[in-house]
Amino acid sequence: MMITSKSLNRKSIPAPLPSIAEDVLEGLSRTPKSLPPKLLYDATGSDLFEQITCLPEYYPTRTEAGILTVHAEEICSHLRRNVSVSELGAGTATKTRILLRSLVRQQFGVNYFPLDVSDAALQLAKDEVESELSRVKVHPQLGDFDNLTFLEHQSPPRLVLYIGSSIGNLENDAAIALLQNIARNLSTGDKLLLGADLVKDINVMHAAYNDEAGVTALFNKNLLVRINRELSGHFDPESFCHISFWNEAESRIELHLESACRQAVRIDTLDMTFHFDRGERIHTENSYKYTVEHLENLLRSGGFQVEHTWTDPDSWFAVSLGVIT
Ligand SMILES: C[S@@+](CC[C@H](N)C(=O)[O-])C[C@H]1O[C@@H](n2cnc3c(N)ncnc32)[C@H](O)[C@@H]1O
Repeated sequence: MMITSKSLNRKSIPAPLPSIAEDVLEGLSRTPKSLPPKLLYDATGSDLFEQITCLPEYYPTRTEAGILTVHAEEICSHLRRNVSVSELGAGTATKTRILLRSLVRQQFGVNYFPLDVSDAALQLAKDEVESELSRVKVHPQLGDFDNLTFLEHQSPPRLVLYIGSSIGNLENDAAIALLQNIARNLSTGDKLLLGADLVKDINVMHAAYNDEAGVTALFNKNLLVRINRELSGHFDPESFCHISFWNEAESRIELHLESACRQAVRIDTLDMTFHFDRGERIHTENSYKYTVEHLENLLRSGGFQVEHTWTDPDSWFAVSLGVIT
């Protein structure tokens, strides 16, 4: 699915996002250097992510889609009638349509509030969902996870989706803080469906982030292209290598960009020059892998009672439903 500028209709999406300048300045001034993974998702990044989800090595999307397809009716049977649906980091909401299809069989209409930092992805989500499901009204929310007050403004009962193992981008404390923030904006009986990737054979996990076609490498390096475009940066993306490896102690896959040489990179908008040694890395993403027990404990720490967890036959991925009691 290609995200093009033609598919953008900014009028329908409120609230522009702040510039990435602050995040870039802070992240590249640190030792070791790091950038927040949300910066990976400009229009090109969202398009590359869509391509990643179709790669043979990238099992998470098709595995989670399989769980949702097999159990959609059962998941919806746990929901109260006239539930409104929100989604954090919805992207293009391709998988979400599996659930929405089941929901519109159970209730006349659905209000769907996808939140994302990528306006290109959000617009595609709106177009695709509304053209397939005429009884779903999409209300895109352009913004960051740190402002979830839009949840509070919806009429209960509410279902929040946080799928795609996006929670795996967060360290444990940040994941719990985000779940607690979601819970604070909900009320008794509201539910959260949380999808997360499980620990498995290292080779399977490693291949998913080191695909042969090199799409994940392009996705990672696009961050430098974005900084060049949005902040008048002078990165040469070819002088950085995509690095991805399994960190056993932390139970996570890490993505980095590694400088192939000693170099200095100026970013005009920041009026700063950043120095890189040969082999020095910018840490761009973590993707934590869980056990079902860990995932359910996260939900509990976030303030939810676990209702049910669904997995695939290989136990590669889990989708867990929590409720505010
Ligand atoms: C791994 S993708 C998952 C997309 C989709 N949910 C799926 O399952 O395929 C993560 C999505 O979350 C969005 N995202 C990442 N960090 C975010 C943040 N801090 N606030 C809002 N959206 C964010 C990205 O733009 C991207 O669309």
